[in-house]
Amino acid sequence: MEPLGIALIGCGTVGTGVVKLLLEHPERLTARAGRKLELRKIVVRDLAKPRDPVVPAHLVTDDIQSVLDDPSIPVAVEVVGGVDWAKRTTLDLLAAGKHVVTANKALLATCGAEIFDAGRRHHRAIAFEASVCGGIPVIGALCQGLAANQILSLQGILNGTCNYILTNMTENGRAYADVLREAQQKGYAEADPTLDVDGTDAAHKLAILVQIAFGVALPVASIQRRGIADIDLLDIRFAKELGYTIKLLAEAWLEPHAGSDHAGGQLALHVSPVMLRQTTPLAQVRDAYNAIFVAGDAVGSTLYYGRGAGQMPTASAVVADLIDMAVGRAQQTFGSLKLWSGNHRDIEQRPGSTMRSRYYLRMMVDDRPGVLADITRILANQRISISSVIQHEALEPTNGETEIVPLIIMTHTVPTGSFAAARAEIDALASVHSPSEYYPVGD
Ligand code: NAP
Ligand code: HSE
Repeated sequence: MEPLGIALIGCGTVGTGVVKLLLEHPERLTARAGRKLELRKIVVRDLAKPRDPVVPAHLVTDDIQSVLDDPSIPVAVEVVGGVDWAKRTTLDLLAAGKHVVTANKALLATCGAEIFDAGRRHHRAIAFEASVCGGIPVIGALCQGLAANQILSLQGILNGTCNYILTNMTENGRAYADVLREAQQKGYAEADPTLDVDGTDAAHKLAILVQIAFGVALPVASIQRRGIADIDLLDIRFAKELGYTIKLLAEAWLEPHAGSDHAGGQLALHVSPVMLRQTTPLAQVRDAYNAIFVAGDAVGSTLYYGRGAGQMPTASAVVADLIDMAVGRAQQTFGSLKLWSGNHRDIEQRPGSTMRSRYYLRMMVDDRPGVLADITRILANQRISISSVIQHEALEPTNGETEIVPLIIMTHTVPTGSFAAARAEIDALASVHSPSEYYPVGD
């Protein structure tokens, strides 16, 4: 059979991994694809940049038009990142009759409808396993393995950079900025790491999963999100003392109308740091690993775990998509999926203020009579029940001056709106040195 001609658009962290897999394991890949996967061009931005020696210099070009015009290249891999140039290029590739494999979650989450419409219009397929959870085949699981189910919920650690940072802050007490730099050096972070640490990358991935699992196209801006950039080592230490660990979670769950058999209803979703009991499976996911629980009405709860960022795990997913393109599976799956097709289900987004959670609240308070009473009165007025309290004695004698100490309160489950109202009132007390810190608690 004819080899499958491939162009690689982008040859940074992920692109170099794709080159390595294609060139270092040709027999294995040919056997699985039924024909040779032949790399014919590699497009980059800066020809002068030093490349890994594995990258064949004679294939490297900065001329995307040479790919668009080349009929011997039916498949292109977009591993450039960003939205503007990547979007124009992806639309051009589809219009030029190329199938596209992409790892670009920002592109799909923000322009999925336009990209998928163009694919359908030009009878070309788009495969995107690498866009969510790096090397974990969760897109394949949702599109194929779990196809008989109505998905009920998704809960996962979807950003490797954040998990790497939180693991190192928790286990080694390391400073946030140092560990972020290390995550960048290891190739886990986005070109702009703000997208990782402010929760946007996890929200992009959640938007893609929600499209597949629930058939809902959500503007990324509508996903309530909070990142990890402001997490203080003090809260990580108190979490440990309480038997918890802080993880950045992306969660979505369906709340059907009564008696509706999951048709219609509300979708609750958010990206947020959450305190998890140390004994739970997600709390034990370390470094750049990701994990995601997917619950379906027939299958029950399933768990997917593996390396969620980095060169070779992501290349593993890209090359799996290339094999699927070579055997024609990706084209069939794309045709049947109807993703971002405008066929939106009748599901509305549940307002964040109506959700319920347990909370961890840490205040820096004056260590004097009446302070704890003022705070518990505010919580009681909002009908918020306390499950535990920690305040340690000051380490040093204070010579009569009022000491400022951390006061930690764990609550029972409360409406998010009541908790926010109580926190605003507490922060306004003269004895509380604002702002207080808080995290939802997941048991
Ligand atoms: P990267 O290391 O920054 O590499 C980007 C590549 O794209 C570079 O080779 C760059 O060329 C090229 N490029 C950028 N703008 C270009 C332009 N205008 N024209 C031609 N080439 C251009 O990025 P990465 O980490 O490999 O990530 C690539 C994509 O994979 C992103 O969408 C990212 O979100 C996604 N992803 C990454 C990971 C990961 O762990 N890194 C995991 C999953 C998904 P030069 O080399 O000449 O600068
Ligand atoms: N920057 C992303 C992460 C890469 O850290 O998870 C994988 O999508």
